[in-house]
Amino acid sequence: MKDTDSTLAQFDVAGAERLEKIYLTPDVVQQREQIFQLLDVKPGMNALDIGCGPGLTSLALAQAVGNAGHVEAIDIAPPMLHLAARRCSTQPHVKFHQADVLQLPFANASFDVSLATQVYEYVADIDNALHELARVMKPGAQVLLVDTDWESCVWACRDEARMRRMMQGWSQHIPHPQLPRTLIQRMQRAGFADVQVHTIPLLNMHYSINTFSGGMMGFIASFVSGLPDYGPQLVADWQADVSSMADAGGYFFSLNRYVFVARKP
Ligand SMILES: C[S@@+](CC[C@H](N)C(=O)[O-])C[C@H]1O[C@@H](n2cnc3c(N)ncnc32)[C@H](O)[C@@H]1O
Repeated sequence: MKDTDSTLAQFDVAGAERLEKIYLTPDVVQQREQIFQLLDVKPGMNALDIGCGPGLTSLALAQAVGNAGHVEAIDIAPPMLHLAARRCSTQPHVKFHQADVLQLPFANASFDVSLATQVYEYVADIDNALHELARVMKPGAQVLLVDTDWESCVWACRDEARMRRMMQGWSQHIPHPQLPRTLIQRMQRAGFADVQVHTIPLLNMHYSINTFSGGMMGFIASFVSGLPDYGPQLVADWQADVSSMADAGGYFFSLNRYVFVARKP
């Protein structure tokens, strides 16, 4: 299976709506606000939203560049583009395109600023994708990439061996589950300079469906139960174990997002 086929399977209509709900939880709203504070986006700029998903970042970019600016947003998954277009229906200066990060439908040196949150970890041929990103950025433009290292995940449970097995299964949902540790070098090889790195932890101390980890539990369960050698019982037992940690007041989840900010020289 190609990585794009696996991505499209994860972001069918149900998957896109599930991700949108998670990305609207207070945890992720706050994380997005922290990310935007690192972005040098001004009214009148041409902005690019790579892998726009449900359009939460496209809307924030549209508000930041204002009517004098433009936002182009791309995604490979039609259900995501549908949600994004609906979210931005009052923003005529945002345009959506179904496109692969490996072939951006834009001329050289088109953009002042670009954002890709949780996207490049899905792309097997990431080095060519980063060269393609550099191609469409203007000299001096800023790029901001966010990715997760799933080995930074700490999740309290009673059965550690089962947790490790589940996380091994989940790491198969993307080609680069530990991308942040190689991303600085990859960005430099693609021609970006002045790469700065920041971490934004997601921390949940109680169990609720309206948190990042509560929502991700369903996403992980649905992906892992479709893998060979992972039956629905194992996955159900894992969910029961983790969520029941809350009964004794011992629920604990933490995961690092890594934010890379760089310039095209
Ligand atoms: C985890 S979601 C993040 C969505 C959005 N960036 C956000 O943070 O709200 C990953 C997105 O990347 C898109 N994507 C993955 N691989 C892609 C590719 N090769 N080209 C374009 N989009 C891609 C997916 O369809 C999905 O919408």
